[in-house]
Amino acid sequence: MKAILMISKVAAFLVVALSIGVINIAAVNAAETQTDSDKKTETILNIDESSFTCIRKMTPVRHFYVDNLIGDINGTLAAAHAPEGAIYPKGSVVQLVPTEVMVKRESGISPATGDWEFFELKVDEKGSTIVKRGFVDVMNRFGGNCFSCHAPAREPWDFICESEHGCEPIPIDHKMTGALQRSDPRCGEEVLEDGDSMALWKLKVMVNIGLAKKWMEDLF
Ligand code: HEC
Repeated sequence: MKAILMISKVAAFLVVALSIGVINIAAVNAAETQTDSDKKTETILNIDESSFTCIRKMTPVRHFYVDNLIGDINGTLAAAHAPEGAIYPKGSVVQLVPTEVMVKRESGISPATGDWEFFELKVDEKGSTIVKRGFVDVMNRFGGNCFSCHAPAREPWDFICESEHGCEPIPIDHKMTGALQRSDPRCGEEVLEDGDSMALWKLKVMVNIGLAKKWMEDLF
């Protein structure tokens, strides 16, 4: 009888020891998975000035341009062309004008903005400089908040405004955004079309009026 009791105690010990072992193995696996996903995260987190380039080197979609920082351009294009709207994949870059960018960051990093990070750039022949970056609180140079202007297009367009996704329209038409794309200083030679110089001139006047208005508002 004693021997049976002893055997069952040993068996019980073995079961406990084994299950602890199993749990440990599971924990090690989980830790490894964590490290893998961290590695993937790093490739995207590493966004700096060199992530941005001549807008016309990106892929055109209708009147704007897209790219993907981790090579998933097909996923980005699929979202951009989805007739009912879709969530853009991680790494997506979207630009309408050379100086304003949306980048789709890691899942869960900013639920309010659908994980989009907003950037305002300064661009010249030498390349891009990041003036501002962030999530809910990035303002463009006229004092408009990127996130709140894009929020009406949240569903089902994943914050992409275009012309008819519910955002308040901006006073810049596609002739002007086209002219800005064709004169992006990072691309080298300008490739202006008929009417572009006039569009750029009008834009300059509007920008200066906009900046003057903001300056007055800040002052008084
Ligand atoms: C006053 C509102 C407003 C503000 C502020 C604003 N946007 Fe937009 N944005 C729009 C609208 C409207 C469009 C679509 C214009 C069109 O194609 O007719 C647009 C277009 C874009 C696009 C092209 C994709 C799309 O949504 O159609 C990007 C990228 C973009 N904006 C980024 C930004 C960033 C970055 C900021 C801040 C630095 C910003 N925007 C600030 C209203 C705004």
